[in-house]
Amino acid sequence: ISLLPYNTMGIDVKARSFASFSSAEDLLQLMEARGASAPTLILGGGSNILFTKDYDGWVLKNEVKGMQVVAEDDHYVYVKAGAGENWHGFVEYCLHRNLAGVENLSLIPGNVGASPMQNIGAYGVEIKDVFQELEAFHLHDKKMQVFSLNDCDFGYRESVFKRRFRDQFVILSVTYRLHKTPTFHTSYGAIEQELERMQVQQLTIQAISQAVINIRRSKLPDPKDIGNTGSFFKNPSVPAAFFQTLQATFPGIVGYTNADGTVKLAAGWLIEQCGWKGVRRGDAGCHARQALVLVNYGHATGKEIYDLSEDILQSVQSTFGVTLEREVNIV
Ligand code: FAD
Ligand code: EPU
Repeated sequence: ISLLPYNTMGIDVKARSFASFSSAEDLLQLMEARGASAPTLILGGGSNILFTKDYDGWVLKNEVKGMQVVAEDDHYVYVKAGAGENWHGFVEYCLHRNLAGVENLSLIPGNVGASPMQNIGAYGVEIKDVFQELEAFHLHDKKMQVFSLNDCDFGYRESVFKRRFRDQFVILSVTYRLHKTPTFHTSYGAIEQELERMQVQQLTIQAISQAVINIRRSKLPDPKDIGNTGSFFKNPSVPAAFFQTLQATFPGIVGYTNADGTVKLAAGWLIEQCGWKGVRRGDAGCHARQALVLVNYGHATGKEIYDLSEDILQSVQSTFGVTLEREVNIV
C-alpha cells in the first residue's frame, strides 16, 4: 500500500502492510493476528515524518477517537482526548468551552497522540505546560501504562517517546489540564503586533488563537498546497560565550537566552544567511518564506529531501560552526 496519502511531505513510498485501529482492543487483536515480530510504525497525521524508502513492516494508523471532560477542581478542567483526534480539533474543543492553555498551539497539524512525542510547542507554550497524563500500550509486553508529567522527560521538541522508548509504546489517549482562568501569553514573536492589527479591544483566548492562526498562515506553507513537515531542524542552543563570538562576526544573528544561560539560535536565520532560502532542486526545496521549512513541490523523493537537508546542515556547520539537528522523524 502507498503511504502517499498518509504523510504531509507527500512522499510516495510503500508499506508492507497497513492497518488502522480505533481502540486498545482493536490494537491487541491486530497484534495477535500479526503474529511474529515485524517492525511496527505508529502513524498519526504523518506531519512530522520523512519516509526515505519503502517501509518493510507494519504501519498502524491510530484512529482512537473521543474527547471528554474527566475531572474538575477549583482551578482546572481535565480533558481526556483519544490519540487519533486531530490536534486543532482538540484546541477548538477547548476554545468553545473557554478552557485556557492551548490557544497558542492553534493550527499545529497532526494528532493528539503525537503531541507528547516531541512536546509540541509554538508561540511561547509547549504541551508540557498543560499535560496531566497519558495512557500508552507497550507493544511487546502488551500492557497499558500510565505516564505522568515526570515520566515523560519533556524538553524542547523532546520526550522519552522520541528517544529511550522510541517505537515501543503506542499512545492511546492524553489527558490535559486546562485553566478555568486564562493567563495570556502574548510576548512571543509577532502576537502583540497581530492583535493590534486585528484591533482587539479585549484580550481573550479566542483572539490569541486567531492571531496565532493569522501569523502561521502568513508564513508556513499549507501541506494541502505544498508538501512539508513544518520546521525541518530544531533551533540549536550554544554557550553564551560562543554566541558572543558569533555576534562579533555576524552582527545580525538572532538568538534568545535560555533559562540555563545558553543561547537558542534561529536556525531559519542561519540557513537563510547560507543562501538556501527559496532554493529549489528538482521538486525538493527550501521554502521561500521560511528557510527552516523544507518542501516538496510535487514528486520529490524522501531521499532528495534528506540529501538537501544534509547539504544545508553541512553548509551551516562550515559557515557558523553550529551543528543543526533534524526535528523531523526520519524513517
Ligand atoms: P506523525 O507525523 O504521524 O508521527 C510523528 C512521530 O510520532 C512518528 O515517529 C510516529 O511514529 C510517532 N507517533 C505518532 N502518533 C503516535 C502514537 N499515538 N503513539 C506513539 N507514537 C506516535 N510542531 C510543533 O511542535 N510546533 C509547530 O509549530 C509545528 N508546526 C508545524 C507546521 C506545519 C505546516 C507542519 C506540517 C508541521 C508542524 N509541526 C509543528 C510538526 C507536527 O505538526 C507535530 O510534530 C505533530 O505533533 C505531529 O503529529 P502527527 O500526528 O502528524 O505525527
Ligand atoms: N528567520 C529568518 N529567516 C527565515 C526564517 C526565520 O531570519 O527564513 C528568523 C525570523 O526573522 C525570526 C526567527 O528566525 O527572527 C524565528 O522565526 P519564527 O518566529 O518563524 O520561528 P522559528 O524559530 O523558525 C519556531 C518553531 C516553530 C513554531 C514557531 C513559533 C522550532 C524548530 N520551530 O520556528 O515550530 O511554530 O517557532 O513558535 O522550534 C515546528 O516545530 O515544526 C514548527 C513550525
